[in-house]
Amino acid sequence: MIKIAPSILAADFTKLGEEIGSVNSADYLHFDVMDGVFVPNISVGLPVLESVCNITNMTLDAHLMITSPARFTARFAGAGADIVVFHIEAETEENTRNAIDEIHRLGKKAGLSVKPGTPAEALFPYIDEIDVALVMTVEPGFGGQKFIEEMLPKISVLRRSIDSRGLECEIEVDGGINLETAKKCIEAGADVLVAGSDLFRSSDRAAHIAELRIEN
Ligand code: DX5
Ligand code: ZN
Repeated sequence: MIKIAPSILAADFTKLGEEIGSVNSADYLHFDVMDGVFVPNISVGLPVLESVCNITNMTLDAHLMITSPARFTARFAGAGADIVVFHIEAETEENTRNAIDEIHRLGKKAGLSVKPGTPAEALFPYIDEIDVALVMTVEPGFGGQKFIEEMLPKISVLRRSIDSRGLECEIEVDGGINLETAKKCIEAGADVLVAGSDLFRSSDRAAHIAELRIEN
């Protein structure tokens, strides 16, 4: 079944606990970290992650949109993230491999993400080591942007590579997910859909999550 990962970036931070409670029928809780350098925006970091871990049993999916992320991957894993995803564009190959190993040594899952301008093939050298391959379907940095349709073939390319090698790696899609774009991503082979502004705008979030899962 498709997994849904609500993005707290779209939540009202003055009542974050309640907001997380309203989406707890989903699978992962997507936690966007931005440093104002790798992306032109700043969001939340380690202290907020620690607080969030104390109030939810959802799988915590940290998406690091920061420069030189290997400096922080172990910190996020140690602070309670279950999955630590970072950008392939932001690190050297050596640091990327070391960070993946370190996250695994801490008993957590490791993921790599590609921005819209980076081909899916950039993930191939790591595909048998990572647990999550995250395809950005908007430019990282802001919620509420329009889904970039041209990213759909990247999902299919990854699906074929993962299946042909018999790997378990999940394909996560992030940006502009609504009921219409969700279907396209599922058809292309996605396993996990990040849902931000469209989900949090909904008056019945549990129903919206259930609808997003429908595979047809
Ligand atoms: C964007 C973030 C996304 C964002 C998605 O840089 O990585 O996770 O919250 O938000 P929507 O669903 O509104 O595009
Ligand atoms: Zn994200």
